[in-house]
Amino acid sequence: MALKPEEKPVYPKPPASQPIGMFDSGVGGLSVLSEVARQIPAEDVMYLADTKRVPYGGRPADEIIKINTEILNYFAEQGVKLVIMACGTSSSVAYPVLKDKYKFPIISLIEPGSRAALAATKNNRIGLLATVGTVESGSYQKTIKSMKKEVTVIAEGCPLFVPLIEGGFIDTEETRKVARDYLKPLQKENVDTIILGCTHYPHLLGVLKELTEGQIVFIDPAEEAVKDAKKLLSLKAGRGQYQFVVTGSVLHFEELGSKLYGKPIIAKPVKLGG
Ligand code: DGL
Repeated sequence: MALKPEEKPVYPKPPASQPIGMFDSGVGGLSVLSEVARQIPAEDVMYLADTKRVPYGGRPADEIIKINTEILNYFAEQGVKLVIMACGTSSSVAYPVLKDKYKFPIISLIEPGSRAALAATKNNRIGLLATVGTVESGSYQKTIKSMKKEVTVIAEGCPLFVPLIEGGFIDTEETRKVARDYLKPLQKENVDTIILGCTHYPHLLGVLKELTEGQIVFIDPAEEAVKDAKKLLSLKAGRGQYQFVVTGSVLHFEELGSKLYGKPIIAKPVKLGG
């Protein structure tokens, strides 16, 4: 159950046995799951792919908040101990509104991604590739500026990336052509660091690195975000179990997800939103 607005959240270290909740509109959050598997392999995870409503990136803020509320309520019913918003758009738009409304802590990608980009840039010129929703929210631009005033952020919305990735077009000519166009304005502005501000984009890292010929440092916010999550958890031993639930086509998520995650994924359907 969601907390009433007047109730203040307190986050005692939860029992280690509860799973972590993670969600995204689709296969994007699997890039964050890889980082969870690397840094905190003993944690159990419940991953929700909201493929019925993918893409999130062009939706108005109130829709994202409504959808994210449904997902967080579902996680509350399932008894998760912490949620990682494995989605840049949700982290940008819904996190500021929903972050204190639940009994479990919620991790966003924006502050960790900004921190990592600031640590990497040498010329104080940071590029952002993200969904239109994330770019227009100004989440990264404001967070980075608040941490270091003299940094310039050049942001490019990339509405074609998510449909391409969800369609399985990863290392293809179409994807390269689109990526070249999205990179151009950032390269023109001489950025030395680019934040992959949408969790789908690390699936294109090979293509992006090749097109920029090793001249740019790409930041995946997941690495720092999972470090933040780890600090809130009591450490566990063993190997975590992962459950996948999907609001849209289970088969498509299993096939594409297994390919991108590099291990077989078995998922179950879930119905949200009444
Ligand atoms: N992967 C998500 C993000 O990080 C959602 C992208 C989308 O569905 O448009 O923004």
